[in-house]
Amino acid sequence: MSRTPIIAANWKMNMGPKEAKDFLAAFKNENTCEIAVDKVIVPPFVTIPAVMEALNGCKCIGVGAQDVSDRDNGAFTGEISTTMLNELGCTYVVLGHSERRQYHGETNAYINKKIKKALAAGLIPIYCIGETLEQRQGGQLEAVLGSQVKEGLEGLTAEQVAGLVIAYEPVWAIGTGVTASAEDAQSAHAFIRSVVADTFGAEAADKVRLQYGGSVKPANAKELMSQPDIDGALVGGAALKPDSFAAIIKASL
Ligand code: PGA
Repeated sequence: MSRTPIIAANWKMNMGPKEAKDFLAAFKNENTCEIAVDKVIVPPFVTIPAVMEALNGCKCIGVGAQDVSDRDNGAFTGEISTTMLNELGCTYVVLGHSERRQYHGETNAYINKKIKKALAAGLIPIYCIGETLEQRQGGQLEAVLGSQVKEGLEGLTAEQVAGLVIAYEPVWAIGTGVTASAEDAQSAHAFIRSVVADTFGAEAADKVRLQYGGSVKPANAKELMSQPDIDGALVGGAALKPDSFAAIIKASL
């Protein structure tokens, strides 16, 4: 099965509308449009309209949001709904990022509700999972990843799982400059795929795309993405500069 790689820029709480426009003006000169991988930019909510405007209908980059509410429009101060993301033209939504789990107390069960809400609205979830250093050193890697996959995706059909993206982001590698070795990342990805196979069947496991995230940069992107179970990258810090995000996209060739 050949899976199309997907490379996403998670801008986190960086890049207001003006900076995003400058980024995209420079990024256009990097000529990544012809590269046959899925490219995604995930700006803060308030920057999404500026990104759409700067893309000016160009379909070679998909746009995602960094979170979404599990509720319909209504009295939920500070929340953003799937209807609003649809209206803006978003294709993807990142859910369960470790920073949401860590700073906002998001659990697998709560993220599961958001995943279902996103799927019902036709958005493609990029579901983030990953262990802390303590969990890895305590021998809990597989138990943590296993329950994140099973609880986060609970109640989904095999077809829904086949169409989404799971980002494996070891928490100790996010924003630290420490990347998982290609071997460690591959072995975690193979394990995640095996859990998907056991839970949703071989076809879903074969089709679901698994991104690696955690200090991906131009220098390590090729080695990571050439592993058999790594289908792209979710990039934070190194995606804040047009040339370095473009270099990561080019590394997928
Ligand atoms: P990083 O972030 O590339 O800055 O480590 C990745 C992420 O959190 O998605």
